[in-house]
Amino acid sequence: MENLNSIKKEILQKIKSAESDDNVEEIRIRELGKKGRITKLLSELGKLNQEERKKLGPEINDLKNKVLEEIEEKKEFFLDQTLNKKLLEEKVDVTLPVKSSQNTNGRIHPVSQVLDEITEIFGSLGYEIADGPDIETEYYNFNALNIPESHPARQMHDTFYFDEFDKDQGQSVLRTHTSPVQVRTMEEGKPPFRFISPGRTYRCDSDQTHTPMFHQIEGLSVDKETNLGHLKWTLETFLSSFFEIKNTKIQMRPSYFPFTEPSLEIDVLCDRSGPVLKIGEGSDWLEVAGAGMVHPNVLKSANIDPDIYQGFAFGFGLDRLAQLKYGIPDLRTFFSGDIRWLRHYGFSALDIPTLSRGLKK
Ligand code: PHE
Repeated sequence: MENLNSIKKEILQKIKSAESDDNVEEIRIRELGKKGRITKLLSELGKLNQEERKKLGPEINDLKNKVLEEIEEKKEFFLDQTLNKKLLEEKVDVTLPVKSSQNTNGRIHPVSQVLDEITEIFGSLGYEIADGPDIETEYYNFNALNIPESHPARQMHDTFYFDEFDKDQGQSVLRTHTSPVQVRTMEEGKPPFRFISPGRTYRCDSDQTHTPMFHQIEGLSVDKETNLGHLKWTLETFLSSFFEIKNTKIQMRPSYFPFTEPSLEIDVLCDRSGPVLKIGEGSDWLEVAGAGMVHPNVLKSANIDPDIYQGFAFGFGLDRLAQLKYGIPDLRTFFSGDIRWLRHYGFSALDIPTLSRGLKK
């Protein structure tokens, strides 16, 4: 048998000076492969007498283990080296401008854009966001809002009814407005309240300004001294922010909703004399919302004492706000799923650093 020590020295030296992972693999095969030198030494042990075997056996095994260990270490070294090289080469420069070809893929729908803008504005006014189900019960959609069964206002709403019926809650309906969220949210908390609730609403109606599914945004503010002046300030502040104009004026017209008293129609100042409608200028008025002071019966439905608390509520058509701000004429096109329409009216998430940047670039 060859001198094990010199074999060991020779192999370890070779591993040390290997220049690549391939080199190391070659050494492994040459020494430890099926026909490798160390493999052969091990197989030849059987031919030796017992004494020699006892002495050489452990030595050859040690040699094998040592060589294996060194090979693994060296292989790991080369693996790290390639990884590091790759990391350096593939470094992403996040300061590079986005290629314009990458801008054409996804677009943000005007409804999402406007919703984001509105929630940001009301968020900064201290409003929370409340949510409610699209499939409502007659109780929350009507009764709790001071619209009893025989009330003609139920007919006003062109409601979609389900067959499902509950003896306390009445028939299931697709909610016709976001106002049911008023009662649902007040039931669950304690006054004071200040929240908005955006969402889908449904009415059996379809023409240039109506679609069976549309979006509303409800607002509610309830406290001990909340009054109409607060409502006026809130709506003027919101509309000025949203339309990005300075101090727009609103006009409050008497109206009727069963769940508010007094009830108001909110008009915003506008100019219709030119080819495009201008909000916040001129001497015309444009209806944008329904509002009023919360009816005592609504507060009672939510177990709130109307002798202590009072508040205001308002409801905007979200799609209508998007139409007005971004000049989109036909409401039905919003939901027709036409990709060309979305490319034209949609917003690129990459052009604008935050969703809520609105008109100004
Ligand atoms: N829910 C009313 C509608 O859909 C709007 C509204 C909301 C009016 C809140 C007053 C107060 O027409």
